[in-house]
Amino acid sequence: MSENKTFPKDFLWSSASAAYQIEGAWSEEGKGPSIWDEFSKRPGKTYQATNGDIAVDHYHKYKEDISLMAEQGLKAYRFSISWPRIFPNGSGQINQAGLAFYNKLIDELIMFKIEPIITLYHWDLPLALQEDYGGWESRKIIDDFKNFAETCFKSFGDRVKFWVTINEQNYFTTNGYLTKRHPPGLADEKVFYQVNHHAFLANAIAIESFRKLVPKGKIGPSFAYSPSYPKSGKPEDINAADKAEDFLNHWWCDAYLRGCYPVIPLKELQKNKVAPEILSGDMELLKKAKPDFLGINYYQTLTYTTNHESIEVGDFNTTGIKGTMKSSGRPNWYKTVMNKYLPVTNWDWHIDPLGLRLGLERLTSRYNIPILITENGMGEFDKLNEDKTINDSYRIKYLKDHLKACYKAIENGVELWGYCTWSFTDLYSWLNGYQKRYGFIYVDRDENDPKDCKRYKKDSFYWYKKIIESNGKDLF
Ligand code: BG6
Repeated sequence: MSENKTFPKDFLWSSASAAYQIEGAWSEEGKGPSIWDEFSKRPGKTYQATNGDIAVDHYHKYKEDISLMAEQGLKAYRFSISWPRIFPNGSGQINQAGLAFYNKLIDELIMFKIEPIITLYHWDLPLALQEDYGGWESRKIIDDFKNFAETCFKSFGDRVKFWVTINEQNYFTTNGYLTKRHPPGLADEKVFYQVNHHAFLANAIAIESFRKLVPKGKIGPSFAYSPSYPKSGKPEDINAADKAEDFLNHWWCDAYLRGCYPVIPLKELQKNKVAPEILSGDMELLKKAKPDFLGINYYQTLTYTTNHESIEVGDFNTTGIKGTMKSSGRPNWYKTVMNKYLPVTNWDWHIDPLGLRLGLERLTSRYNIPILITENGMGEFDKLNEDKTINDSYRIKYLKDHLKACYKAIENGVELWGYCTWSFTDLYSWLNGYQKRYGFIYVDRDENDPKDCKRYKKDSFYWYKKIIESNGKDLF
């Protein structure tokens, strides 16, 4: 590969989104409410009380968005299906208009030769299931998720080859059941691990069904992966980082890819009486249902030191005011610190392309599974100039450096299927409103005023187009 620096043939040059963050039309054409429709309207929960009611109006503008994707030359596009758009009550009666919307979207993508990548669950659980039985807290969710997944496999599996089961289970459960930042807004470690156990089972059952219903397809979960670094060469720091890797990364990846939980964290949870209740047959199911690939959402590495002060949940920067992110961790085990060797964004996320390569290589050595980067990108303030251009050179640099890191990882033996930037258009950022932008396409709206959500191409749009055209050669 090194004489002629291009990416593998058929590399999926892609970009991504999620239903709640782009669609809007939150109560149109039979859609039921999701837990985010309810949660985002609770006072004080989101940045400046923003929500996804209108989002960037993709539900009405999907044709325009797809024609922009085609102009850019995207090979693939990852989007999620809103579960309550298909099942307004979570199960039971299907909303045909919901199916019709995704059918039109998929057909439009295919018409432009853009490979659809479907995410089944990107956090917008039907509110009815939360109200009926506590959503992910009950084992009942496993059957309802299976039913939803099977409906999608049967409806779209004839045209869609790539599927993501659950997006960032580690992130939505941490925020939903430990930090209170996402719905349902709880802080209970026992519930947190139980909810995760149910989600692992739901993931596994969906994979089992997929084998029967979409035998030629490829499926896997998307994991929010922040590889761990020690703050220094001190053995205590190295131990803290090692334990963070075990509790925060191996817990999920081992369950998905090896069908077991890592031993030291499990013993610790058992000692503290917060380990999940595991029924007979559960671990066999997890072992049996092997994904075809691991989806990785990579934004940053995290750096750890010892935690003697019992730090658990620190402030999270949701304003874009640099320096407002605070340490968080597991008392007695580890806590995060800012890494003085790395630059950060205005939201205090470390910028670390080498960390992506390191992460891809770590995962490959440990699990030997193909990887699809399902998200990577830079959230920043962007400015719409008077002449309607947007000069986002910082984003181009970010993406370029991360793609070069991917190239090196491939050279070193990582089987990387593709790369989805986050995101295609600007969109609603769960806790950060509309001012934290990620897209190639600027959407003209702000926190208070949806305006007309007009689309404008940023400089990065044209840059990625060239990278795709040259199959990566233009990076070098
Ligand atoms: C991931 C999610 O956590 O990161 C996306 O899958 C999210 O939905 C993205 O938008 C960026 O995070 P944020 O908080 O900056 O929007």
